[in-house]
Amino acid sequence: MRTQSLEDFCNWIEQTPLSVSIQSTPWVVPTVQTIHILAIAALLISAVMINLQILSNSGADQPLSRVFTRYVKIIWLALPILFISGVLLITGEPARSLANDVFQIKMFLLACAIIITLVLQKRLSDDSLYWESTPPRRQAARFLAIISTVCWLAIICAGRWIAYTYS
Ligand code: HEM
Repeated sequence: MRTQSLEDFCNWIEQTPLSVSIQSTPWVVPTVQTIHILAIAALLISAVMINLQILSNSGADQPLSRVFTRYVKIIWLALPILFISGVLLITGEPARSLANDVFQIKMFLLACAIIITLVLQKRLSDDSLYWESTPPRRQAARFLAIISTVCWLAIICAGRWIAYTYS
């Protein structure tokens, strides 16, 4: 969605000293993209470890809370790195992302994935056996694990697609 005020905002960002230096220093964008990709890898591995644990129902040898606590830390560490590197990429070429529908979908999916992670975490912090204690809760956890996996994968596809939907 491209509105006049969004275009004005993008033009303003493009003229800031930070944007000008990103645009004029050739190594910045590839370096920031590499950091973005490494943080994606760390986040995705962690999300898959958590979601597989929920879906495989293998709580007998490893309680979900132990696996969750170990890997959710990596998700909360990767997200600020993704945010900072993403903001730097936007600063270098703002209209490419901000005025791009695919980027807006990516941000919506990101909010959904974060909310699901927070819901899973909140319940586990109140009761470490919460998601394993009854069949309906196990079903709910499996449902959230599937939706969260779909969201993370769709976010990655959307991230890659931004480059091809910019006009
Ligand atoms: C936290 C906020 C985030 C912001 C502000 C952000 C922003 C961006 C921007 C601006 C780009 C460059 C797009 C382009 O110009 O082609 C990008 C690329 C990308 N992002 Fe993000 N991103 C964020 C989080 C994430 C997350 C959580 C994931 C996946 C789990 C992700 C996956 C990707 C992928 C796969 C690319 C393509 C990289 C490439 O082809 O080099 N991003 N992101």
